Amino acid sequence: GDVAVLVPAAGAGVRLGPGRPKALRPLAGEPLLVHAVRRLAAAPSVHTIVVAAPAAEVAAVRALLAPVAPVTVVPGGAERQASVAVALAAVPAGPEIVLVHDAARALTPPELVESVAAAVRAGHDAVIPVLPVVDTVKEVGADEVVLGTVDRSALRAVQTPQGFRRAVLTAAHAAAGDPLTDDAGLVEKQGVPVRCVPGSEYALKITRPFDLALAEHLLATGG
Ligand code: C5P
Repeated sequence: GDVAVLVPAAGAGVRLGPGRPKALRPLAGEPLLVHAVRRLAAAPSVHTIVVAAPAAEVAAVRALLAPVAPVTVVPGGAERQASVAVALAAVPAGPEIVLVHDAARALTPPELVESVAAAVRAGHDAVIPVLPVVDTVKEVGADEVVLGTVDRSALRAVQTPQGFRRAVLTAAHAAAGDPLTDDAGLVEKQGVPVRCVPGSEYALKITRPFDLALAEHLLATGG
């Protein structure tokens, strides 16, 4: 394998409701993070996995993942971007492709990991999995009055894993300013073209209670 995967898993998961940090919430009896790491480790290209865990849970996460796959666990930061930066700094010499994958996308198939890595290997410096946007999207003002309708055909919903040539991601994080919600955003600011590949509905981000229920159903029916 020539791929390192960074897994930011240090978020609180406020939108899921009260409880443990999101990555440690159970899905079919196992934490989201266990599901996510198991699928990453099943992708043949993956050589190294670095997880950014909530600072108070580093030892617990190490123990939790030890039977799943060989992983490095580091304490995450206050923002997703800081958690990714800490994990990136912990990647050993070797892998020249780095993927960043949210723990919350617990059912991401290994095939998607492979297809993102393959696109980087084929020469794209930055690669993101995307899906078409099915809803009509409108921009709305502070008073909840519509300002305008966006051309849906030009929009994509962006998932993870996002893949990068290692030097490109390292440079983007070194130059990073205000925190963004994804890593491709940092790379875009560097003027690097970001290539889209088809995403997977199974890579949904488990964010709200409805998503957790959907994920339980997908697992129960063979997802
Ligand atoms: O909050 P959001 O759903 O965008 O978080 C996406 C991913 O980033 C989650 O896997 C979450 O655990 C992670 N995260 C992190 N460190 C933070 C905040 C979020 O690793 N400080």
